[in-house]
Amino acid sequence: MKLLIVYGTTEGHTGKVSNFLKEEAGKLGHQVELCNASDDPPSPQGYDLVLIGGSVHQGKYQSAIKHYVKEHYRSLNNVTSGFFSVSLAAASTDDESWEELEEISAEFMEDTEWKPDKVEQVAGALLYSKYDFFKRFIMRLIAKHEGGDTDTSGDYEYTDWSKLKTFLDKMLEISQKKK
Ligand SMILES: Cc1cc2nc3c(=O)[nH]c(=O)nc-3n(C[C@H](O)[C@H](O)[C@H](O)COP(=O)(O)O)c2cc1C
Repeated sequence: MKLLIVYGTTEGHTGKVSNFLKEEAGKLGHQVELCNASDDPPSPQGYDLVLIGGSVHQGKYQSAIKHYVKEHYRSLNNVTSGFFSVSLAAASTDDESWEELEEISAEFMEDTEWKPDKVEQVAGALLYSKYDFFKRFIMRLIAKHEGGDTDTSGDYEYTDWSKLKTFLDKMLEISQKKK
């Protein structure tokens, strides 16, 4: 199968998540093109499966993925497609954080008119080493509030890689069934 993965990232973790999806699909013998949304990705036309990912920053996804989806929503609605949303809220067990997260994703779909076959919430990372002083301060406060890691001398990854692989398998299955 021919797959296209387009992602937006601010500190790099969604790039890592996207690369994992590429590697896993490659191991299964699929042909995968991986593109940062800022690097003028190809149109979704001609692919069997298109996966798009972005991370949440102050309640929003990267504008590059929004532009890409807005430009291509018609083609996206004609192929099998999935969205993976990377955030810290997805690492929490708090119902309110999850409700907010689902609203953020739903608003993105409403705004872009994209109707993906599946939306996956992926727990992201706290990369204190990549933040400037102000970001580190804010993120530590948020982490403290949500019961997360507050020792800013380390970086923390909350992604459940096996759950991500299950998402990929499910998307491949949906695409296969549509053929
Ligand atoms: C300045 C800043 C704002 C953030 N805002 C949110 C937010 O509103 N909701 C949330 O769940 N996570 C938020 N996060 C957490 C990111 O979504 C998480 O760190 C993710 O792994 C970032 O992925 P990236 O490295 O691909 O940009 C924020 C992180 C930063 C640094």
